[in-house]
Amino acid sequence: MSSEALNIHRIARPPALPLRRTLRPLLRDPVNALGGFARQARGQVVRLGLGPFRPYLVSHPDHVQHVLRRDWENHPREGMLWKPVERLAGRSIISDGPDWESARRIMQPLFTTRYVASLTRDMAETIDEGITAWEPYARAGRWIDIYEEMSRLVSKTVIRVLFGSKISVADAERLGPAYGVAATSFASRLLLPFAPDWIPLPGDRAFMRAVKTIDEVVMPLVRNAIREPGDGNDIISALARARRGEEATTAERRIRDDLVSIYGASVETTAVALTWLWPILDDHPEVAARLYEEVETVVGRGPVDAECLPRLTYMKAVFNELLRLYPPGWILPRRAAKPSRLGDVPIEAGSTLLISPFATHRLEEFWDRPEEFDPERFAEDGDQERRHRYAHFPFGGGPHVCIGQHLFFAEAPLMVAGILARFRPEVRAPRPLTPFPAASLRPKELVEVRLVPVGGGAAA
Ligand code: HEM
Repeated sequence: MSSEALNIHRIARPPALPLRRTLRPLLRDPVNALGGFARQARGQVVRLGLGPFRPYLVSHPDHVQHVLRRDWENHPREGMLWKPVERLAGRSIISDGPDWESARRIMQPLFTTRYVASLTRDMAETIDEGITAWEPYARAGRWIDIYEEMSRLVSKTVIRVLFGSKISVADAERLGPAYGVAATSFASRLLLPFAPDWIPLPGDRAFMRAVKTIDEVVMPLVRNAIREPGDGNDIISALARARRGEEATTAERRIRDDLVSIYGASVETTAVALTWLWPILDDHPEVAARLYEEVETVVGRGPVDAECLPRLTYMKAVFNELLRLYPPGWILPRRAAKPSRLGDVPIEAGSTLLISPFATHRLEEFWDRPEEFDPERFAEDGDQERRHRYAHFPFGGGPHVCIGQHLFFAEAPLMVAGILARFRPEVRAPRPLTPFPAASLRPKELVEVRLVPVGGGAAA
């Protein structure tokens, strides 16, 4: 028998889950269902029967590494999530191919630790103003919808990073809600990725109106920045400088698309992470106490600034563990451009591969007590060194790895330390919280927080 024939015998068919086994759990609780499918397959490739749509769920860290890093060019971001995203953000840093490559090259230097450090003072100032605005709530003992408040605070901070002082308060206040409408109103396009653009779907009109508002705000700022880039370190000025020399309308379009992409990629992800945090701390008083102590030592009652950040080491471990259990980027779909193989399993060209950090982060094969929240896993002397690089990948990996990690690890600690220097949170939310499959993973249920001033109780 030829070696080729032997090879054929070695090719395995992936275990497949038929529709009758996938449908009910997916309808009830889709994100946990995905985690369950990966667990049943013990991290091996499994094909999900979803009627005519039969994606592969890829959760083994070796396979994730293969798709995101080793063979990334054969696994572009196409179809599914990506097509509706393109209607909002164009061919930008969050697309693929040559447009992505050019945008990534230009933006990479703007999100290094060093560059982000140059933005920290402005971020800290905006965050401090936002937290001060909560003082009346705290004095009145009012419960606040923490997702809404976190989104507002993160949005203000990101707008400051993107536009510096070039945007008016009124325009900044239009941008956040318009983006929110645009991002949620393409849900039907997300569910029907194969519907052609000319077929009207629910949400299309709201989407178009929201995009119009975004463009009314962003385009004049882009044109001004191109005319006079100045030497500011805000992202719009830096992009205008970097694209000097390109044809004007092309440069305008690209800068607009990249700003919209960065806004989208940063606000929702950071806001949802900072929503999951509070119920988790409430459920783990020993972790909360240690975190409060660290903030007390590092920040005291003073303002939080760039110098505090490297000393908030426990907070970093808390965030890493939070992003393990509730990764905002919970699903990273890819399409196989050519036939390939994952382990023993042949993958046909055109197949959709679902990579889910949520599923991989909870595999028993790679995590001890995977469902337990334990920041010690990420302590400086923890077992990080021994762990597979792709057992924990909340920021993705390979050439598309999140460009905003350093921004997140500056912005989020500034916010949390700023809050904890002044307040202690009380939490009102049902348990267990259900992860809801929006563009970023958020709790399905309402999470409310009441901020109690440190050293004094809330008024009744
Ligand atoms: C908790 C916060 C965040 C999480 C969990 C997160 C997660 C991710 C993940 C998983 C990817 C990879 C996507 C893929 O492979 O298809 C990604 C890419 C990206 N992220 Fe983030 N992100 C976060 C915050 C941010 C922030 C603050 C920014 C702001 C700059 C940002 C900007 C981007 C961009 C532009 C990309 C696309 C990079 C590329 O394809 O070259 N993210 N992010």
